[in-house]
Amino acid sequence: MKTEILTILKEAEGFVSGQNLCSRLNVSRTAVWKVIRQLQEEGYQIEAVRNKGYRLVQAADVMTEAEIGSRLKAGWIGKKLVYFYETDSTNLQARKLAQAGCPDGTLVVSDCQTAGKGRRGRSWSSPHGSSIYMSFVLRPSLPPYCASAVTLIAGLAVTDAVCRETGLPAGIKWPNDVVVNGKKICGILTEMSAELENIHYIVTGIGINVNQQDFPDEIAAAATSLRLESGKSWNRSALTASIVSAFEGYYVKFLQSQDLSLVKDDYEKRLVNLDAEVRVLDPKGQWSGICRGIDKEGELLVEDQEGQIKTVRSGEVSVRGIYGYV
Ligand code: BTN
Repeated sequence: MKTEILTILKEAEGFVSGQNLCSRLNVSRTAVWKVIRQLQEEGYQIEAVRNKGYRLVQAADVMTEAEIGSRLKAGWIGKKLVYFYETDSTNLQARKLAQAGCPDGTLVVSDCQTAGKGRRGRSWSSPHGSSIYMSFVLRPSLPPYCASAVTLIAGLAVTDAVCRETGLPAGIKWPNDVVVNGKKICGILTEMSAELENIHYIVTGIGINVNQQDFPDEIAAAATSLRLESGKSWNRSALTASIVSAFEGYYVKFLQSQDLSLVKDDYEKRLVNLDAEVRVLDPKGQWSGICRGIDKEGELLVEDQEGQIKTVRSGEVSVRGIYGYV
């Protein structure tokens, strides 16, 4: 009921009467009043005036189920939303939910993670109140080799949403780091349960540095937040909803073509390395070339010194710009 009341108040131009809320939600005036009190305690400024009703004066930057739910558009991704104030890792929770049979498109969000996971066995710093930690459960009827493309789609969706919501010049460092002014603001971790021929489920987890003002020493040189880059703090629920909507748009195209051919152009527009020199950190030997985009499987196309286009597969090698992290 909290989500519904919040949605009605947000959509209303002015006051919404208590009676109106009671009849639309089929609940008592006392029940409505209790929810209004809870919302006020969470930080929402709601004016309550006798004979007029309730008016939302200001939405708070709270990451709650009601706040995120009230902003999600009527798509299928995020239709089932599981919210935690604190959990070990949204990826771990998403995997548990997937194993228990949750629907395709389930979204798990937490305000804090006590055991946030990064790639290559690293941890992901996940304090309360400043970042986004979210994971999607997906059940595509596709062979397992298609799963890595979902990571690129998530990176593209985050980049779109950050540009749209903040106006910052976000871009993608292939395959899926989202960067602003040369520093990382987002990490993505995709995990999968599959058999040889088919996927049981994919969990794609996204961590975004939104309102942090400082970082642990070991990552400070390469990491930044939207706040540090813009000098403003941002509403995490609005950004989360915007990512969900962008992700759904691209993911549906991916399911249609079963590859990245329908999103390749959008991806390349956001690729910070495009037409720039990159160093390929291949364990068999490093080499440099010019980045020429991606193919429909999401492999990076790099032109070597002889003008030959070579494909670079994520997971096998990493890529650096020759002047630093990007
Ligand atoms: C990276 O190392 O770049 C990937 C980091 C991924 C972090 C996110 S936060 C939400 C989700 N839950 C986790 O435990 N990890 C991912």
